Amino acid sequence: MPDTTPRVPDFDADVPEDFDSPHAMFKDLRRRCPVAYSDAMGGFWAVTKYADIVRVLTDWQTFTTTIQNVVPRVATTQRRPPLHLDPPGNVPYRNAITRLMTPAKLKPWRPKIEKEVDQLLAPLLEKGEGDICRDFSFVLPIAVLADFFRLPDENARRIRIVGSEFNMALQRRDDENVRKYSDELYGIARDLIEDRKVHPQDPDVDPISSLLAVRIDGEALPDPMILGALRQFLMVGIVAPTTFIGSAVVHLARNAEHHTLLKKDNSLIPDAVEEMLRLYTPYRGFARTARRDVRLGDKLVRDGDVVAVVFTSGNRDEDVFENPEEFDLNRCKKDLLTFGRGPHMCPGAPLARLLLEVAIEGIVQRTRRIEIAGRMTMTNWPEYGPLAVPIRILR
Ligand code: HEM
Repeated sequence: MPDTTPRVPDFDADVPEDFDSPHAMFKDLRRRCPVAYSDAMGGFWAVTKYADIVRVLTDWQTFTTTIQNVVPRVATTQRRPPLHLDPPGNVPYRNAITRLMTPAKLKPWRPKIEKEVDQLLAPLLEKGEGDICRDFSFVLPIAVLADFFRLPDENARRIRIVGSEFNMALQRRDDENVRKYSDELYGIARDLIEDRKVHPQDPDVDPISSLLAVRIDGEALPDPMILGALRQFLMVGIVAPTTFIGSAVVHLARNAEHHTLLKKDNSLIPDAVEEMLRLYTPYRGFARTARRDVRLGDKLVRDGDVVAVVFTSGNRDEDVFENPEEFDLNRCKKDLLTFGRGPHMCPGAPLARLLLEVAIEGIVQRTRRIEIAGRMTMTNWPEYGPLAVPIRILR
């Protein structure tokens, strides 16, 4: 007989948050209750320690991604590879992207992203004030990814609007609009696939042609799965850079000495971005579902339970990172959880790092000091970071 005793919640995941409160909550959970149950958002376990997170992500036979991959569950129901398939099903879809992420293939992207950063920063600098999220970080990742996926101008314009509406509907947990904009994203993806079938491009540069070129035992990938994969590629890389750039700017505003240091010495930017990716990890609520009863920490997770791997917490785990709350550029390199671990580890990480480095470098080089000039609005599960940061810029 399955055990159906009601669980006693260890914490409330559905509380209003500010920039610092999630970190305080996770610190408390790591100490008091590292695998913690909340009955919010349909009920789930939050796994907050680094080692437990790695275990969940690598033991994919026990913790499947085929049922629910984020907390809260997204209203749209279609399965989208690669994230919604356990290995080895996800591998061909990942490979279609990773082959485009080598240093040589990414080299031409630096000047393109620099140009985009320049154009977006110009009006903000001119006014001396604005909202770094609304005016910059909401727009930059969509622009870069539209370019990366070689969207024609008309589709790039559409995806900028639909992508950001979808993003906002997710944040508001507005299921009706999540479905509506998700359908529109499917429409854009469908048109692109049809276009590439008629006008094939080089699979060594074009991600869509790369997906279409995959063969398994001589067979192409099924059309609906190619569609689902492209729909996932178009969105999965947009949200995290959006909130992360907001967090990075809050950090620079709060720590003017770091701003000055990075402005003086550009070579510190990659390490600084890495340290900020640790401190302000933008994804916290990626999830798996247990396939059997299993002990995790001191808790019994039951067959069918949802388990959220809280990257934002694992990256500040005191057992792995000394003085985890400090920004330390000399921290000896440890593998972060920011981009996940195991069979679903982010295949877009090299492009994401490049985008973030160019964005942060652009901001510190063109400003002397940034001040927070109003109330921040924060995202919530499954992300971490601000959705609005009013700023004043001193040059
Ligand atoms: C700061 C930026 C980014 C962060 C923090 C991030 C983080 C992550 C994480 C944590 C996962 C693993 C999810 C899991 O195990 O459940 C993931 C998967 C994925 N990411 Fe990213 N990502 C970023 C940017 C991107 C970009 C730019 C792209 C595309 C070009 C991308 C494409 C993907 C894909 C396709 C997957 C699914 C891989 C699979 O299931 O095998 N990501 N990402």
